[in-house]
Amino acid sequence: MIIRSAVFNTSATDLDSCPPPGLPEFPFIGRSNVGKSSLINLLTSRKGLARVSGAPGHTRMINFFTINDAWRIVDLPGYGHVEKKQGAKEKFAEIISEFLPQREGIRTVFVLIDSRHEPQRIDIEFTTWLANSGVPFVLVFTKVDKLKPAGVTRNVAAFQASLAEWTTVQPRVFTCSSETGAGRTQLMTFISSLL
Ligand code: GTP
Ligand code: MG
Repeated sequence: MIIRSAVFNTSATDLDSCPPPGLPEFPFIGRSNVGKSSLINLLTSRKGLARVSGAPGHTRMINFFTINDAWRIVDLPGYGHVEKKQGAKEKFAEIISEFLPQREGIRTVFVLIDSRHEPQRIDIEFTTWLANSGVPFVLVFTKVDKLKPAGVTRNVAAFQASLAEWTTVQPRVFTCSSETGAGRTQLMTFISSLL
């Protein structure tokens, strides 16, 4: 797919301020710092489209981007970082738990998992919740440039085994690196197939 245009639309703080549905949408979600914004920039070939940050928890709102006037990427707030403001964590959880099952037009959710780690409880819990909600999703293991291929294979297998203890849903798996560009072609081919 050729990316002719990639435009930031809006940052929504709640469901009411989201743009009207209509286009196919692909939400990106995962723990803080997992590489959501970097992957969005890789896929769209626009370096500064989504803001990349060293400090976890940068993406605080629901950010909408329209690609080729035909489909949207939705950058959701990261889950699992410690919020300083009381109640803020609950607010994000609420946004996510309403947005994902209710939003019209979601083709599939990209759940990003850091490939460097063994299965993390928060990722398993979130993925299980998503599976039980009936929302279509795939797993995208990020930052594969940071470890050897055998390490990626081991952590992916461990995650799948861990998830299988909680749900019979077996999501499709992708691996990627925003540093090297690995996985971009596979992800774009997958998105194309759903449009
Ligand atoms: P929040 O919005 O804060 O939740 O983070 P995010 O999930 O959007 O992550 P972001 O893309 O901002 O990346 C976080 C950090 O990880 C940055 O320092 C990135 O440069 C780094 N990073 C992201 N993707 C990769 C990758 O594939 N490989 C390596 N080595 N570093 C990466
Ligand atoms: Mg981000």
